[in-house]
Formats: sequence, C-alpha cells, structure tokens
Amino acid sequence: MADPAKVERTQVGIVGAGPAGLILAHLLHLEGIESVVLEVRTRQYIEERVRAGVLEQGTVDLLAEMGVGDRLKREGLVHHGVEFRFNGQGHRIDFQSLVGRSITVYAQQEVVKDLVAARLASGGPIVFEAKDVSVHDLTAKSPKIRYQKDGVEHELICDFIAGCDGFHGVCRPSIPEKSLTIYERVYPFAWLGILAQAPPSSEELIYANHKLGFALLSMRSPEISRLYIQCDPEEDLTHWSDARIWEQLHLRFATRDGKWSLTEGPVIQKSIAEMRSFVTDPMQYGRLFLAGDAAHIVPPTGAKGLNLAATDARVLARAITDFYASGSTDILDRYSEICLRRCWKVQHFSWWMTSMLHRIPGESAFDRQRQLAELDYVTSSRAASTALAEHYTGLPFTI
Ligand code: FAD
Ligand code: PHB
Repeated sequence: MADPAKVERTQVGIVGAGPAGLILAHLLHLEGIESVVLEVRTRQYIEERVRAGVLEQGTVDLLAEMGVGDRLKREGLVHHGVEFRFNGQGHRIDFQSLVGRSITVYAQQEVVKDLVAARLASGGPIVFEAKDVSVHDLTAKSPKIRYQKDGVEHELICDFIAGCDGFHGVCRPSIPEKSLTIYERVYPFAWLGILAQAPPSSEELIYANHKLGFALLSMRSPEISRLYIQCDPEEDLTHWSDARIWEQLHLRFATRDGKWSLTEGPVIQKSIAEMRSFVTDPMQYGRLFLAGDAAHIVPPTGAKGLNLAATDARVLARAITDFYASGSTDILDRYSEICLRRCWKVQHFSWWMTSMLHRIPGESAFDRQRQLAELDYVTSSRAASTALAEHYTGLPFTI
C-alpha cells in the first residue's frame, strides 16, 4: 500500500514561481498572510530562464514599494524614449515629454532572482522541483493541492489557490471547459532572439519595420545586446547560423544615410518564440484564481506579458488581503472583471504593435502602404505618439 500523503495547511497555495507567483507571495507576506509556492523547476532553472526585459514604470514602482527594488534601481537601464525605424529612417518617441513617464530595461530573470531572495529571506516556503502538481475541490471552502516532493506525496489544504503556472501549467486545464470562454489568435510568424556579448548599438530600443521582416534591438546591460528578428514559426534554429542572423540584423536596421552601424559580438543564447494572443474569461473558478500567463498571453511586441502578470498579482493580493482583514469578498468577486478590463486594452495594444511592425505573409501592396502610413502617423502626430507612449510606459493601475 502507498504511504499516506503528508497533509499541510496554508492560507494561499501558489502554483508557479514566475513573476506572478513570486510577486503575489511577497505582497501577501507583507500583509502577514501565509502562502506556499510550488514550482516544478529548480531554482537555478527559473533564475536563468531568458525572457522579458522591459518593465513599465508601475512595475518598477511596485517592486520598489515591496522592498525588492534596490538592485533594479542600481542596475536597471532607465529609458525615456524608443525609436521606430522604417523606410531606412529612425523616428524617436519621447516618453518623458509626452507622458512624463519612462520604462526600465532589467531582465526578467533578475526580477525573479530578487523575488526568490526576498521570499527566502522572509522565511516563506518555495518548494522547488514539486512533481505531479494537481488542484482539487476548487469550488469547496478548502481547495487542495496535491504534489510529490522527493518521492513523498503531499496534500496542501488552502483557503485559496493562485494558478500562476504560466501558459502550459495545470491550473487552467483543471477548470471545466464549459466554465471558460477562450479567445485566441496565433500569428503566422515568430521571433528568433539572441543574446550577444556586444555593447548595445543604441541607447534606446529600436523597433524596425523592414521589407525583409521585423527586427528589434534591445539590451540587458552596457555589455550585452538582446536582438530579435521576425522568422517563420516552423523555422529550424539549426538553419540560422550566427553569421546569417547578423546579416539579417544589419540589413533590417540599415539606415538610408548609411551612418548607423550595428556592433557584433559572440552569440551566447539563441531561441525561437511563437507569437500568440490568448485570453481566458473568467480568470476565476471557485477558489482558484488564475494570474499572469496562466490566464492570458500577449505577443511580445508591446513588452507587456511580465507587466500584466505583475498587475494581476497586485489585484489578487489586494482582494485576498481585504478578505482576511474584513471578510469582504468585493474585490475577489470582481477579480476577473478588474484584470480583464486592463488585459483587453493591453491585448489591443500588443496586437496593434504586432500588426504595425511585422511583414504579414500574403499581405497586399495596399496593406504594406497602409502599414507604412500608420507608422508615419504614429511617429509624426503628437496625439498618436502620446497614445503609444501612454500604453508603452503602462496604463494607470486601477481597481
Ligand atoms: P511564468 O513566468 O511562465 O511562470 C510560471 C511558472 O510556473 C514557471 O516558473 C513554471 O516553471 C511554473 N510551472 C509551470 N507548470 C507548473 C506546474 N505544473 N507546477 C508547478 N509549477 C509550474 N514579456 C514582456 O513583458 N516583455 C518581453 O520582452 C517578453 N519577452 C518574452 C520572451 C519569451 C521568449 C517568452 C517565452 C516570454 C516573453 N515575455 C515577455 C512574456 C513574459 O516572460 C511572461 O508574460 C511572464 O513570464 C509571465 O509571468 P508568469 O509568472 O505569469 O508566468
Ligand atoms: C526584450 O528586451 O527582451 C524585449 C524588449 C521589448 C520587447 C520585447 C522584448 O517588445
């Protein structure tokens, strides 16, 4: 007979130690609310996973208020604007003069490192390499999480479960299909991304629309560049030698006056990311609340995925805090509505940036001219640039 499961209790069981799960855990800790974070991967894996790089001002402010913003403040690169490059010419959008806000470039894995350190320093549990995680009794007063750790079965009895386990996690699929509406769009292109040991060739990000396809110049530090090019979603990474990638980057960023140049360096990481828009409605089922990529995905063109995960965690932390403080379920009941209202605006922005900047397979000559006219308008009209700057630096947080 199998050994009986080890039974434990907590207030909030959090599945997933990505930005959503870790921010939620720390916000709850600051309010004196207990949680257990379960993560399928190792600590090293989540602290090295290369993903997002752009933090909205609201995300930076939130991390600072939580007491995990010191290194971010020291090492983050504050950008006051961004460049759009098309027809071989650059056009800068100046966030500061348009909306008085900025963004900070700081790698997602650094945010994760800071949050893991804070969690461990506070004595809060994170179970790494939790196997066979499953969620149960979601509509009951005490939902449960079962998992295995080092061959021992565990049952964690909770008041609430936060499904922060990303797009491929187990929480969303545990909700009966008939209880959810899914909205989805898969794009007919992908991003090939590299990290290169090369000083960034620009102080600010450059989004380039070129007839060969989209390209993006970003960075991680004064020594490391992060670069992306549009490619086919079925692309085989082995067909992309470093030399071929650099050749495409040079062509796509080239300026008409020939004065701009791209600095090359050794490629230290290479990967392909698919592009998808995805929304789950509602983001709640009984006492299971989905947050971040578990509930929604945006294409990376708007640099919003991590920021949206942070705002979900913030709303959920407020809702749970109110519940324990006063018994009120007001924010808990409106959790989906509050998060989805922001999510759909961000979905629209991310779709719009994606549509404006990529070459769409099968597009007509008319579509191409319309796309260039839109870029011309966005970069020359103060009203249109302001709307872009407002979205890019982050919409205000509301509950
Ligand atoms: P995740 O970061 O995915 O965290 C989920 C966690 O749950 C993971 O640690 C996972 O290991 C764990 N998990 C999964 N299944 C289980 C399970 N069964 N049990 C326990 N744990 C589990 N966003 C931006 O804002 N800007 C960008 O520039 C950007 N670039 C990106 C580039 C790439 C290649 C990718 C993949 C994403 C990018 N994103 C970007 C999106 C951003 O990284 C995500 O939106 C963000 O990670 C969402 O955070 P999360 O906590 O919701 O999910
Ligand atoms: C990144 O630095 O990885 C990055 C920046 C902006 C984006 C997407 C990714 O829109």
